[in-house]
Amino acid sequence: MNKKVTLKKLQNMKGKEKIVMITAYDALFTSLFDNEVEIILVGDSLNMSFAGKEDTLSVTMDQMIYHTQAVCRKANHSFVLFDMPFGTYTDKKMALKNANRAYQETRADAIKLEGGKEKAKIVKYLTKNSIAVFGHIGLKPQQVRAEGGYSIKGKEEDEKNAIIEDAIALEKAGAVALIIEGVKPNVAKSVTNSVSIPTIGIGAGLYCDGQVLVWSDTFGFFEEFMPKFVKQYLDGSNKIKEAIKTYSSEVKSEAFPDDKYTY
Ligand code: KIV
Repeated sequence: MNKKVTLKKLQNMKGKEKIVMITAYDALFTSLFDNEVEIILVGDSLNMSFAGKEDTLSVTMDQMIYHTQAVCRKANHSFVLFDMPFGTYTDKKMALKNANRAYQETRADAIKLEGGKEKAKIVKYLTKNSIAVFGHIGLKPQQVRAEGGYSIKGKEEDEKNAIIEDAIALEKAGAVALIIEGVKPNVAKSVTNSVSIPTIGIGAGLYCDGQVLVWSDTFGFFEEFMPKFVKQYLDGSNKIKEAIKTYSSEVKSEAFPDDKYTY
């Protein structure tokens, strides 16, 4: 078992060794991933891939706490990141109340919230109150209804500059790391070079200090859509479908349970 990953270790990895992050929503998969990654993100993406909702917006603090508690039970090595649900950090008092819940009711090491410079005051307030905060800039999935869909960010020069300004403002406010989602590689590169905290990309190309993927996409279990940036490391859904078909036919034909599986 490797030693528990600390914030200090993550910050020392910037520019030296890539940080590996994956999502997990339960104890079972956490125990499978734990030794191979630095960070496990209990992402609000669970509202889609776990709960079957069409976006992330309706997940609650109670639900995130339940899943994070399960993850923390088996995250002996990796750093655990708690994703703040939509609508739980709209002002600094509310943000602190909910972030305190994340710290007091789970063993999460840090929280993540979406937003750029407009969230800097909230990040500063949380940081001053002993909460470690990861920012999330570029494409922000919690904006999906307000923006009418998901789209790549930073294609125009002024949008690219605004993302770099977001990153700098968040670092200045005390953010300890940044997730950069859905931007061209040159945008992620400029952000990574403009801050001294680690950047972790998703759909943001190679020039970040680390990479994150949603586990059910990565292992081929989520069939509803597959963004271009997802590499599938396993044909998960077909493997499960074959296995359930075999189990079902063996029960029907009485091939299972044979003597080997009977007391
Ligand atoms: O909720 C999530 O899984 C995320 C990733 C897309 C970074 O925020």
